[in-house]
Amino acid sequence: MRFLSLLSAVWTVGFAFAQSNADAFIAKEGPIAKAGLLANIGPSGAKSQGAQAGVVIASPSATDPPYLFTWTRDSALVFQAIIEQVISGTDASLRPHIDNYVRSQTILQQVSNPSGTVSSGGLGEPKFNIDLTAFTGAWGRPQRDGPALRSIALINWANHLLATNNASYVTNSLWPIIKLDLDYVANSWNLTGFDLWEEVNSASFFTTAVQHRSLRQGAALAKAIGQTGVVAGYTTQADNSLCFLQSYWNPSGNFATANTGGGRSGKDSNTVLTSIHTFDAEAGCDAATFQPCSDKALANLFVYVNAFRSIYTVNSGIPANQAVATGRYPEDVYFGGNPWYLSTLAVAEQLYDALIVWNKQGSLTVTAVSQPFFASLSPGVAVGTYAASTSTFTTLTAAVKTFADGFVAKVAQFTPSSGALAEQYDRNDGHPLSAVDLTWSYASALTAFAAREGKTPVSWGASGLTVPTTCERNTSPGGGGGPSVSVTFNVQATTVFGENIFLTGSVEALQNWSPDNAIALNSDNYPIWSVTVSVPANTRIEYKFIRKFNGAVTWESDPNRVINTPAPGSFIENDTWR
Ligand SMILES: *[C@@H]1O[C@H](CO)[C@@H](O)[C@H](O)[C@H]1NC(C)=O
Ligand SMILES: *[C@@H]1O[C@H](CO)[C@@H](O)[C@H](O)[C@H]1NC(C)=O
Ligand SMILES: *[C@@H]1O[C@H](CO)[C@@H](O)[C@H](O)[C@H]1NC(C)=O
Repeated sequence: MRFLSLLSAVWTVGFAFAQSNADAFIAKEGPIAKAGLLANIGPSGAKSQGAQAGVVIASPSATDPPYLFTWTRDSALVFQAIIEQVISGTDASLRPHIDNYVRSQTILQQVSNPSGTVSSGGLGEPKFNIDLTAFTGAWGRPQRDGPALRSIALINWANHLLATNNASYVTNSLWPIIKLDLDYVANSWNLTGFDLWEEVNSASFFTTAVQHRSLRQGAALAKAIGQTGVVAGYTTQADNSLCFLQSYWNPSGNFATANTGGGRSGKDSNTVLTSIHTFDAEAGCDAATFQPCSDKALANLFVYVNAFRSIYTVNSGIPANQAVATGRYPEDVYFGGNPWYLSTLAVAEQLYDALIVWNKQGSLTVTAVSQPFFASLSPGVAVGTYAASTSTFTTLTAAVKTFADGFVAKVAQFTPSSGALAEQYDRNDGHPLSAVDLTWSYASALTAFAAREGKTPVSWGASGLTVPTTCERNTSPGGGGGPSVSVTFNVQATTVFGENIFLTGSVEALQNWSPDNAIALNSDNYPIWSVTVSVPANTRIEYKFIRKFNGAVTWESDPNRVINTPAPGSFIENDTWR
């Protein structure tokens, strides 16, 4: 008896601790995070000297790691948070930053870069110099979430301006840049690209989800401002990408696989970020759009969080029903593989978002898919729908709130007294690591804290969607299933008897860098080896030839070969083995 009551006392104190810890931390950290975020925006941010107006630096860290660049993805996520603050009336004084952002992106879209020009794939370029010139070094490119996220931010802004009688600015200044991004997304969502961590070149859950959201919102905005010519095309590709989105679900593992390539477990913060960045409270707990309170998104959160319990020393000894430090994915080795502030805060935010919806709809449903998650917080809870008047609803929502606060408390525990948020915190002792003052870390704190206050981001039309029964490929020009160019690859290569030459590269048509599935060339004109392949037109493709002999594979020397494919037709590429 004594033991039991002592245990429950510890339990209660533990719960109260997480809550008060979160309250105190948020009161202090909120203003610090906002100031930290604004310090990283040009032209006058305290830590972003040299950045053009409206340019978000990723971090002031110039070396080790070099993050003094502007990423399209990070900037868009930061500006989504700022735009949300202006729209909701939290801080109208931020509006001039949005005007600067719009101007900076108008320029940036036109900057030719290694991914191409504005009309030949350049919008997929992930990062630029902070003076708005192209970054020309080697990088994981393209990354196709950037244009989607930027258009989402600007569409949210456009909808607000439409509602406040400023349609002319929307049509004249915003729509042209939004349309460039949406056309890019509509054309390229069905092509591979690098994931948000810039490592895996395949299709990626986060990327597909934000592409879907941008096309859905884009079609609605186009309709609202009379740009009706693009509505059907965007809607078709939105339907197609929503269909494809469902294919990432791993029913036996009970989580969404982060990438179609990469060869990892697939458990990844990518998926939790997807849930919070496609949150639409109007859509309830819809699983097709991975809403935060959907059974799939909660099951996924549970599997993702549990993947970090045993791998980080900072998580040792923490009971299985309490919050832990979480990172990008368990196999991560970058800077030794550590928890990230923005990943841990994303878990809290998803749970706060879920609470918003359960309270709004006055009920909560436990399905077979989400039952393991709920049972970890309330052992034995049964599948069913619980109205707000029931004690089960009260118990579960209180437990979810405490669990969520625990993730904020984790971040609080490992944030230095200055309140500065780096990119990572050490897996062994929790000290801050990698880039200092990461702008995205600050944005993630602001959005998590807002969700805890019950602030609901703008709706984007996730409600009432129907997932097509069969998934169609993209048949728009260069879209993976559409117009292509016939390229004959010739390579001069001397070989020994029994040795053969193959081709693989960065697109599905070239087998996505798979040596196993590489395309065989014929030696009819030896020593010229040749094959003709249909590849996407107007696309930057990287490739290499490989030799296979007695089961051994030999790659050509670096760097990768590059071909910028022309318009539909045919083309001959002549190379010599390297
Ligand atoms: C419309 O919004 C733009 C961008 O913030 C602003 O410069 C302009 O003054 C606004 N116009 C009206 C009529 O409110
Ligand atoms: C393209 O879409 C089809 C149909 O959904 C899907 O099977 C394929 O994996 C997709 N490929 C990419 C790279 O998005
Ligand atoms: C490759 O060689 C063929 C003739 O052998 C020529 O027609 C073609 O233009 C060449 N391709 C390039 C890109 O130079």
